[in-house]
Parts: sequence; C-alpha cells; structure tokens
Amino acid sequence: MTSRRQFLRHAAGTTLAVSALSSSAASYARIIGANDRINVIVMGVGGRGGVLTQDFAGASGAIVTDLCDPDVRRCDAANAELAEGGFAKARVHTDFRKALESSDTDLMVIAAPDHWHTPGAILGLQAGKHVYLEKPVSHNPAEGELLIKAQEHHGKIVQVGNQQRSALETIELINRIRQGELGDIYNVYTWYANNRDTIGNGKVVAAPDWLDWDLWQGPAPRRDYQDNVVHYNWHWFWDWGTGETCNNAMHELDIARWAIGADYPDKVEVRGARRYYTEDDWEMYDTIEATYEFADATVVWEGHSCNKVNKFGRGRGTLIYGTKGSAIVDRNGYEIYDLGGKLQHEVKVKVDSATTDTRGGGPLNTLHVNNHLEVIRGTNTDQHSPVNDGHKSTLMCHLANIAYRTGETLDCSAETGRPVNDVADNLWSREYELGWEPTI
Ligand SMILES: NC(=O)c1ccc[n+]([C@@H]2O[C@H](COP(=O)([O-])OP(=O)(O)OC[C@H]3O[C@@H](n4cnc5c(N)ncnc54)[C@H](O)[C@@H]3O)[C@@H](O)[C@H]2O)c1
Repeated sequence: MTSRRQFLRHAAGTTLAVSALSSSAASYARIIGANDRINVIVMGVGGRGGVLTQDFAGASGAIVTDLCDPDVRRCDAANAELAEGGFAKARVHTDFRKALESSDTDLMVIAAPDHWHTPGAILGLQAGKHVYLEKPVSHNPAEGELLIKAQEHHGKIVQVGNQQRSALETIELINRIRQGELGDIYNVYTWYANNRDTIGNGKVVAAPDWLDWDLWQGPAPRRDYQDNVVHYNWHWFWDWGTGETCNNAMHELDIARWAIGADYPDKVEVRGARRYYTEDDWEMYDTIEATYEFADATVVWEGHSCNKVNKFGRGRGTLIYGTKGSAIVDRNGYEIYDLGGKLQHEVKVKVDSATTDTRGGGPLNTLHVNNHLEVIRGTNTDQHSPVNDGHKSTLMCHLANIAYRTGETLDCSAETGRPVNDVADNLWSREYELGWEPTI
C-alpha cells in the first residue's frame, strides 16, 4: 500500500528537488544535524515578515538571529515583538547582504515585495543558505525557471510560502480524491474576495529618512519615490507587484492544480478590468476571471479585490467537482457533498488560520515552517512545497497576467507551460536595474 507520505511525494507531479550539495555552496554552508539549532535571517519584516519572524522564532530548534529591512523601524518593531514573546532580540540590518555574510546563519526567509523574490533567493542560495520564499516564487516566469536551476545547483532546500500545502485537512482531502472518492475531477472553481480601498494618487516627493528607497527598489528599474507605494500598495504596480492573481490566487490555484494532479494548462483565458476607483494610481485589474484548460479538467479563478461578497460563506476557497461528488476546501477544513448536494463529511480545524487578511497568520504557518525545518535537518523527506512545484502554480498566475496584458488567449506547451503565442520579452522576463540581474 502507498503511504500518505509516498502518495504526497508523487502527487501533482511533485518531485523532491533535493540534489546533492554543490561544492561551491558546501564550502561555506554549515552542515546541519538532526538536533542542531537553525539560525534564521528574515528579509522583509513587514506584515508577512512579522508573522514569519514569530513563527520561526517559535519553531523548535530555530532562532531568528537577523532582521533586515530598508525601513529599519520595522526591524525594531519585530524585535519588540520577539522580546514580548520571550525570544532573544535579533541583529538588525538595513541591507540583507550584511546578514548573508555571516557564516553562523543557515536559513533566509524572504517576505520582501515580489520584485525581490527570485533575486533575493538566488543571493541567499549563493551564500549557502536554505530559503523560505514567500509566494509568488518570482516576479515573472523566466525568474522561476532560473530559480529552479539555482536551487538544483546549490542543493539547498527552498520552501515556497503556500502554507495550505501543509494543512492536514487539505492533505487528507487530496488523499481521498486520489482514492477516487469524488470520481473523476473535471472542474475546480476557486475564488478570493476583499474590499480594498483606493490607493489614491501619489505625489513624487523626497524619500522619507526612515527608508533606503534605493535598496527597496533593488532589482527594479529606478523610479522617483512616490508617497502611495510603500508599504503594501506596491502590489498594484507592475514594476514591483504581480497583481491579485499572484498575491492571492496563487494559494487556491495551487490547491486546484494539486487536486487535479496536473502541471501546466493547455489554454489560459482571462477577463479582467479595474472597476473601482478608476482614477487612482492602481495599474492593474481589481476584478478578474481566469479560466485554465488542462488536459482533463478546467480550473477557474475569480478575483474580486474591491467587492467582498462571500461565496459559500467564505472570502476565499476551492470547490472541486467530481463525477461522484464534490468538495469545498479552505485553510480551515473541508466538506464533501454527494451528487444531490447533501453534506456527507465535514472536517474543521479547532483554531482558524487567517483567510482574507493581508498577513496570513495562524497555525498553518507553523506546520509549513516545521516541514521546512524537518527537511533541512533530514528528519523528513516529504517536502510540502519545493520550488520546482511552487513555480508551476506561480506560472499559472503569471499566465493570467500575461493574458490580461496582451488581451490574448494563451495556448501553452504541455511540457514547459510556456505560451506558444508570441509573448513580449518584457512580460516573460523584465528589465533590471544595472548590476541587479539575477544569474547563476
Ligand atoms: N503566504 C501568505 O499567506 C502571505 C501573506 C501576506 C503576504 N505574503 C507575501 O509576503 C510578501 C510581503 O508582503 P507584505 O504584505 O508583508 O508587504 P509589506 O509591504 O507590508 O512588507 C514588505 C517589507 O519588505 C521590505 N523590503 C523591501 N525591500 C527589501 C530589501 N531589499 N530587504 C529587506 N526587506 C525589504 C519593505 O520595506 C517592507 O517592510 C509578498 O511577496 C506577499 O505576496 C504572503
């Protein structure tokens, strides 16, 4: 019989990319034993980085040694929270590269904005660190492909921050699906709703003295400081963000892809628009429907950034249709229905993990962080979100953005997920500030 762990390893095309430690990284990386303490750097101590600082500090055998943010006030706030929680205060850096220099650190958590994800992760790998990388894996598809190569080259463990992969209830549901309980899965409907406010029209002003604006921009082309970007609103500008699709659909599209056990869609079609506060600086859609045709199933994502009406009592979730029944799953459990729509089985967690708030806290993170630490220590071979798999779900989000920006339906290769349509280079990759282009 296949154990749950064996099953998960083979599910959805997931392969463990734990290759041998390359000699270059090995020369300055600490070899971590099963009982060794893991010293953690956090890059980006904003909403999400603050949550992860607490999660890593609280994880057994881990300690947060370094907090890095070009807004140094945020490191001080995170240090105050560490002290409140009874943890030792961490060293503080404006520039994360200082922290990478120290040979006593093992793992780098990246919760900086999206334009930093792949470049930061590659610098971390080059410095011999394992990486916990917030979703999306990349700012564009080319970066995801590059990061997979870098991970294989350096042999460190990169865990992607799509924490529902570690939800015991979701794992259980996927197991039931694989055992045929819902029959053939032919459609997965996913959604997210929020009521985000206008970001207004920013003014170009001098960067505030609490922020190293140059370092904040890093790999992104230089722009004058504008007073409605930092913090958080960068999500809605193409130079730094990746839209609600990579911001939130990434979580549910990942569950959908896992449920149907597929890698890449054949076709991607999108309808999206900015429907609210149309006069402000927000560069993207706030309302979008993306349809993905896979060989045996269709996946749909509906994103409503500015209209928070719930579906099935939830602000976000995944509805999986099978020929024998259906299931609704979110971060807090699942329900199975028969073909008559009658509830057959329900599993709920005792403590909720945040659903549509912007920090994503809750017990799920603890499970996901612990899974990463166990794989690093070699006490678990079942990595829940390796980067080669996280890239595939991130790519689904990028494909929706490309379809939106080109106005075209995309036909994609089953082997690589790349569109066969002509896609402008600046959508597949992007321009980098001189000296910041990631390479391996
Ligand atoms: N998994 C989840 O549930 C979840 C939830 C929220 C956010 N996120 C992800 O986390 C990331 C951060 O989101 P956020 O909401 O915390 O944004 P935020 O804007 O509140 O925080 C980002 C922080 O990164 C800092 N930063 C920028 N450049 C940096 C650099 N060079 N070095 C170190 N720090 C740098 C910023 O100053 C800021 O403090 C995003 O990529 C987002 O997609 C994931």
